[in-house]
Amino acid sequence: MNLSTTYLGLTLRNPLVIGASPCCDNLEICQRLQDAGASALVMHSLFAEQVEFEENARLRLIDGIAESNPEATDYFPHYDDYALTPELYLRQLTRLKATLQIPVIASLNAHRPGAWMDHAKRLAEAGADALELNLYALATDPDTDASDVESEQIFIVRQVVESVRIPVSVKISPWHTAPANFLREVELAGAKGAVLFNRFYQPDFNLEDLDVHAQLKLSDSSELLQRLRWLAIVSPHTRLSLAASGGVHTAQDLLKALLAGAHAVQVVSAVLRHGGIAISTLLAGLETWMRDREYATIDHLRGALNLAHCPNAEAHERANYLQVLQSWRV
Ligand SMILES: Cc1cc2nc3c(=O)[nH]c(=O)nc-3n(C[C@H](O)[C@H](O)[C@H](O)COP(=O)(O)O)c2cc1C
Repeated sequence: MNLSTTYLGLTLRNPLVIGASPCCDNLEICQRLQDAGASALVMHSLFAEQVEFEENARLRLIDGIAESNPEATDYFPHYDDYALTPELYLRQLTRLKATLQIPVIASLNAHRPGAWMDHAKRLAEAGADALELNLYALATDPDTDASDVESEQIFIVRQVVESVRIPVSVKISPWHTAPANFLREVELAGAKGAVLFNRFYQPDFNLEDLDVHAQLKLSDSSELLQRLRWLAIVSPHTRLSLAASGGVHTAQDLLKALLAGAHAVQVVSAVLRHGGIAISTLLAGLETWMRDREYATIDHLRGALNLAHCPNAEAHERANYLQVLQSWRV
């Protein structure tokens, strides 16, 4: 049976990729995930703020000027709190490339254009097989409209794509008003792939200290449904390589993402909970299912449940919505 797939122009031995996460910080863990069958590894993100902080610090050393705008960095973790500084990130990327046989995808996380964009080149030079661009922004300013936000994001994609020769994928938010249109713009800007979706960590209110606390909860399979819907809608119309990210915990989840049209399926929560066994279990389940149904290749099953045969997806979705709401009996 052939589980191989093409993602971002890279031939992967199977569709199961370790998504952006702290796993990349530990070479031994990465080696184990590769041995368990993972077909590629996405490093956790290097944040634009980190790159610019380091660049500003370098300029201050050269020019001897005092910090010009201390408030600008007040909200962000102290420099030492980041897992890897830009230099260490490059070093870790080099080590991962020397240790692993599977492709290593670097990740940059940004919300607005800036000098950080030059850093993409350094990641490519350090040997990254591809670059994942995480566009994480909250549009909280009432004077900024949706098209301003999207134009800026597309500008970032174009700049980064033009600065490197490796393929670039864009990890997008699920909250675009018109995700299909945004993905077309991402494709026109030169990206080779898209990751559906970024996962937002919703802060919670604490009633004891009357404060707002960030919290990190791992996902469960229910989060996959939103990914399935949009993969099924966009996969018939795009030439982008598509990766599912969010809510893949069982072989059934993995299969559903492929049937919706994903070329690669990223997992993080399942690996953080269970380690490499999560990967081997998912792959064994995928193989069993394919064998039972006589699918010889991933290409045969990819997109089998997408909306290719439904020219008006909106009508299809709306009809489902109406039926579901009216099916409840009291
Ligand atoms: C501890 C942790 C760290 C993460 N770090 C990053 C990151 O640096 N960049 C990024 O794009 N996504 C990051 N993610 C998000 C994951 O890549 C993924 O999109 C999300 O966890 C949903 O996938 P899952 O349901 O398989 O966990 C992180 C997730 C976790 C749990």
